[in-house]
Amino acid sequence: MLSERMLKILNEQVAKEVYASHLYLAMASWAEGQGLAGISEWFYAQSEEEREHMMKFIRYINERGGNAIVPAVDQPPKDFPGVREAFDASLEHEQMVTGAINDIVALALEEKDYATHNWIQWFVEEQREEEDSVQGIIDKLELLGGHGLYVFDRDIMSMRGEH
Ligand code: FEO
Repeated sequence: MLSERMLKILNEQVAKEVYASHLYLAMASWAEGQGLAGISEWFYAQSEEEREHMMKFIRYINERGGNAIVPAVDQPPKDFPGVREAFDASLEHEQMVTGAINDIVALALEEKDYATHNWIQWFVEEQREEEDSVQGIIDKLELLGGHGLYVFDRDIMSMRGEH
């Protein structure tokens, strides 16, 4: 059985993952509207991944005898100032999520809930990869210095799984 505190923090994570999915969906839709087909695909794929993360939390909570709550979702921004800003916002968001995952790890240890501690390790690794992946994109944008967006947009999907 999950403790009340653990159930609460896991349900809060469901909400964070679904918001992340919405945020990336908003970025995908914005990029598509800008004619940035590759960047848009990257964000659509990211949005799907976040939905899968949400599903993993829902199913884990229920498997452990808790009640997973499907939350309302806040509206993400409709507009983004530019590609670089969208990826900067992505990195900032992933860092926030990493902090939230770390809080679950800490609680699992505190409560000696080793099943949750073991299960959450997948997310510890996933967050490391996601931060690395977004940072890699930001580094490439930095190298381009505001130029070569056409080539960047054409090639970005090949960067998926590179990290
Ligand atoms: Fe599911 Fe990117 O955090």
